[in-house]
Amino acid sequence: MMLQGQASTTDLRPCKNGQYRTLMAILGGALALLILTTIPLSFPLLNYSLLLLKTSLESPAAAASAAFRPQIFTSGNLSILSALPCDLAIGDWIPNPNPNAALPYTNDTCWAIHDHLNCLKYGRPDAGFLRWRWRPEGCELPAFNPAQFLELMRHKAFAFVGDNIARNQVQSLICLLSKLEYPIDVSPSRDEHFKKWKYMSYNFTLAFLWTTHLVKSKESTTGGVFNLYLDEFDEAWTSQIAGFDYLMISSGQWFLHPMYYYENSQVIGCHDCFLNNVTELGIYHGYRKAFRTAFKAILSSESYKGITYLRTFSPAHFENGLWNEGGNCLRTEPFRSKDSALEGMNLELYMTQMEEFRRAEREGRKNGFKLRLLDTTQAMWLRPDGHPSKYGHWPKGNGSLYNDCVHWCLPGPIDIWSDFLLHMLKMEGIRSAQERVQYAHQTELNQR
Ligand SMILES: *[C@@H]1O[C@H](CO)[C@@H](O)[C@H](O)[C@H]1NC(C)=O
Ligand SMILES: *[C@@H]1O[C@H](CO)[C@@H](O)[C@H](O)[C@H]1NC(C)=O
Ligand SMILES: *[C@@H]1O[C@H](CO)[C@@H](O)[C@H](O)[C@H]1NC(C)=O
Ligand SMILES: *[C@@H]1O[C@H](CO)[C@@H](O)[C@H](O)[C@H]1NC(C)=O
Ligand SMILES: *[C@@H]1O[C@H](CO)[C@@H](O)[C@H](O)[C@H]1NC(C)=O
Repeated sequence: MMLQGQASTTDLRPCKNGQYRTLMAILGGALALLILTTIPLSFPLLNYSLLLLKTSLESPAAAASAAFRPQIFTSGNLSILSALPCDLAIGDWIPNPNPNAALPYTNDTCWAIHDHLNCLKYGRPDAGFLRWRWRPEGCELPAFNPAQFLELMRHKAFAFVGDNIARNQVQSLICLLSKLEYPIDVSPSRDEHFKKWKYMSYNFTLAFLWTTHLVKSKESTTGGVFNLYLDEFDEAWTSQIAGFDYLMISSGQWFLHPMYYYENSQVIGCHDCFLNNVTELGIYHGYRKAFRTAFKAILSSESYKGITYLRTFSPAHFENGLWNEGGNCLRTEPFRSKDSALEGMNLELYMTQMEEFRRAEREGRKNGFKLRLLDTTQAMWLRPDGHPSKYGHWPKGNGSLYNDCVHWCLPGPIDIWSDFLLHMLKMEGIRSAQERVQYAHQTELNQR
C-alpha cells in the first residue's frame, strides 16, 4: 500500500509557450492589476504589523478610513517587494546562493519522516536536489520561519485533510518546526489515519484527517477499484472539522484508479471500468464532483468557520513507463519554467479543481467564508528530481517494489509548501482588511 498513486506516462517534452503559461500570464496579470489597484500600498508591510492591522481595524469604517489614508512606508527588514501581494505560484527554482547552508532539518534531526520518504536514510546519492530555492516571479519568498509560524498559530487549530501527499506535507511541517518544538501526540485513537498533535508551548493543535477522494468512497473487496459516492460527504473527516481555525484540503492521485461513480446511491458512470452497461465518464467528472461536494460540506458546516485552503494538485513524474511498468524519475535537477509547461492530465486536473475552487469562493463569500489557494502545482511540476524513486526503501529483490515518483523526499522541495503557507498567513491581515474595506465601501454605497 506504499505507493498508492499510479500515473499515466507523463509527457516531458519541452514545450515553449504552453497554453498553461499563457493562460496563467493572463490570469496573473489580471489578478496583479486587480490587487494593485484595489489594495492601497500604504499598510505597514511588516511581519506582525499585518496582524496588528487585523485587530486595529475592527470596524469597517475604521478600516476604510485607515486604508485610504496615504502613509509612507519607511522601516523594516522585509523588502517592500517581498511584502507586496505576489503570485507565489509562478516562478523558477534557482540554485541556493549558499550551497553549504545547513538544511532546516535532516533524517538525523527529525524523527517524523516516514520511512518511504526518507531518501537520505536510504542512500540517495545526489544531495543536489536539496540546494534549490523557489523564486516566484516578481518577489522573494522568505524561507520558513518556525518561530513566526508557531506564534501565528498560538491558541489555534489547523487540520490537514487529504491523502498520502497531505500526510507528506504534515511531516514536512512537523520537521520544519522541530527546531523549536515537537508536538505531543493527542490522537483520539490509534488509527494512523486520524492524528492530532499539540504544541504545548503554543497551545497549537495540528491534525491530519485521512481521505482518499474527499467524498465517501469504498474500495472494492478485490482491491484497487473504488466506489465513489460523489454527492455524499466523507463523514470520517467532515464530522471532525468543528472548531478548527484552518483547514487545508487536497486530493489527487487516487483518482487515477478505476472508479464507479454513484449519485443518489445509483451507479451513474465510471472511470476505466470497461463495461458495456456503464458509461465511461472519465477522471475529471469525478474529480470535479468530489471537490464540489467537499466544498459543500465545508460551506454548510454549522461548527466550522475557519479559513480554508485548497492545496492544488501535486503532479507525479514517471518517465519511460507507467508506475507499474518500470517508469522512474531519475532526474537530478529541476526543469526551468521556460522549458516545461504543465500539460495533459496534470493541467486538466489543476484547471478542474481551480474551477471548483472559484465556484466555492463565490458561494462562500456570501456567508463570509474565506477560501484561499495554496497554489503549488507549477512549482512542483518543475521538480522531477524531488521524488524518492527507489530511495524510499532498502533495495530488495524481485522488483516487487515500485519506483516512487509520486511522493516527495523529506527534506525536499515539498518543504516550500510551508513557506507558501506562512507567507499567506502573514498576508491574511492585508487580505482581511481588504475584504472589510470592500464591504464598508459597498455598505456606504448602498446607504446613499
Ligand atoms: C534586520 O535588519 C538589521 C539591520 O539591517 C539586521 O542587523 C538584522 O539582522 C535584520 N534582522 C533580520 C531578522 O533579518
Ligand atoms: C540518515 O542518513 C544517513 C545517510 O545520509 C545515514 O547514515 C543515517 O543512518 C541516517 N539516520 C537515520 C536516523 O536514519
Ligand atoms: C488553547 O486554545 C484554545 C483554542 O484553540 C482555547 O479555547 C483555550 O482557551 C486555549 N488554552 C489556553 C490555556 O490558553
Ligand atoms: C452491468 O453489467 C454487469 C454484468 O454484466 C452487472 O453485474 C452490473 O450490475 C451491471 N451494472 C449496471 C449499473 O447495470
Ligand atoms: C522473490 O522470488 C522468489 C523466487 O521466485 C520467491 O520465492 C519469493 O517469495 C519472492 N519474494 C518476494 C518478496 O516477492
